[in-house]
Amino acid sequence: MKSVIFLLAGSLAMSAQAAMPAELLGGYAAAAGAGFKADAARGAAFYAKAFGVSAKMPSCASCHTDSPSQPGRHVVTDKAIKPLAPAANPERFSDPAKVEKWFKRNCSEVVGRECTAAEKADFIAFVTGGR
Ligand code: HEC
Repeated sequence: MKSVIFLLAGSLAMSAQAAMPAELLGGYAAAAGAGFKADAARGAAFYAKAFGVSAKMPSCASCHTDSPSQPGRHVVTDKAIKPLAPAANPERFSDPAKVEKWFKRNCSEVVGRECTAAEKADFIAFVTGGR
């Protein structure tokens, strides 16, 4: 995973711009290996899947709601969460360090392990609706 961040940081330094969701998706897809193609439908299934690791937060949808374009609510703290979809919240998937931080935390809690590069690529393909 370090290599992904390195890769992303490198491409950022070169473009000297905020990352676009498509760039982040591309970085994860590349890290997932040759022949991998991100799939929004697979990402949607992952997003909605009840992993059964945590009773309070069985799925990503537990806090982010059934639709990533809707504002969410933290099931434990009850704090409001802005929509995950960049179409509804342009700040999303523009900061590689923030994206990694939250993937790490949320995947550990919900899935019981870190998400793979392939899962992250599929997830971004889903929440961005291919943008
Ligand atoms: C317990 C509540 C909760 C659950 C369940 C949850 N998240 Fe989140 N998620 C948050 C909070 C809180 C933030 C950060 C606050 C914010 O940015 O609005 C966040 C932010 C994120 C971000 C950062 C996106 C960005 O660019 O700002 C990603 C990626 C993410 N979550 C992915 C996931 C995935 C994948 C799952 C399921 C495996 C998941 N989340 C489940 C609460 C949750």
